[in-house]
Amino acid sequence: MMVELVLDAKATLAEGPLWDAKKQCLYWLDILENEVHIYDPATRADRSIRLDQHIGALALTKDGGAIVALQKGIYFLDLDTERISLICSPEAHLTNNRFNDGKCDSKGRFWAGTMSMDENEGNGGSQPAGALYCLEGNGHVRKAFGGVTISNGIAWSPDDRIMYYIDSPTKQVTAFDFDALTGELANKRTVVAFAEAEGIPDGMTIDEDGMIWVAHWGGYQVSRWNPSTGRKLLQIDVPVRNVTSCAFGGKHLDELYITTSSIGVTEAEKTG
Ligand code: BGC
Ligand code: CA
Repeated sequence: MMVELVLDAKATLAEGPLWDAKKQCLYWLDILENEVHIYDPATRADRSIRLDQHIGALALTKDGGAIVALQKGIYFLDLDTERISLICSPEAHLTNNRFNDGKCDSKGRFWAGTMSMDENEGNGGSQPAGALYCLEGNGHVRKAFGGVTISNGIAWSPDDRIMYYIDSPTKQVTAFDFDALTGELANKRTVVAFAEAEGIPDGMTIDEDGMIWVAHWGGYQVSRWNPSTGRKLLQIDVPVRNVTSCAFGGKHLDELYITTSSIGVTEAEKTG
């Protein structure tokens, strides 16, 4: 398996790849540049929308709009007018937090988590000041759980009975029993543990066999795992230190789009 550079975006923190099967295009974000990008593989054109806050995640609505998890809350984004309107702001009191990764489940609930923005400050790194939230279709938001340091990848098993979740600094992928009807989570356990040299787990997706694909921040790779055994099945080397997320796309959903970050990349690595 070979990786190919499809868009030399020079992004700071490219993230949140999401394939739009209807429009056959890829949404992705530059979290720290406050940008939504819409990439058309057919023309190689990349449109960008600049917002006024950091953006951690984007999901599409049925009517062709988007929901975005920003620094100060979750908003609707009109992709034509580029205007945002607030849905909820569950951490209005935590001004140092921002939303990070998020995704919709099969019933259309939008799950998104938060993290402290001083992740790299101080001696011990960031504090577990974040949480995972669930926004229901009726606009009601609830906190699924707190105690999260850097809320990241989310994925559901093909049978919709398990939700996988990553809090990056734990270096683990955890699983919960998932009740698709109510959105309740239960029975948290660890299914994948990263070795010291592999970096930390960031974004994640899942394939039709129920195997999870994880981006390695600080680990130069995307890996495929069997969550039932905890075994690593595949490693795809990526020539960038901080690999942030991945998502399947393309006509047959057989292409894996991978995002990366230039944070911490040396000048030699950039030109090498
Ligand atoms: C966050 C970054 C963080 C990285 C590694 C990303 O999802 O947006 O701020 O450094 O994960 O944990
Ligand atoms: Ca991420």
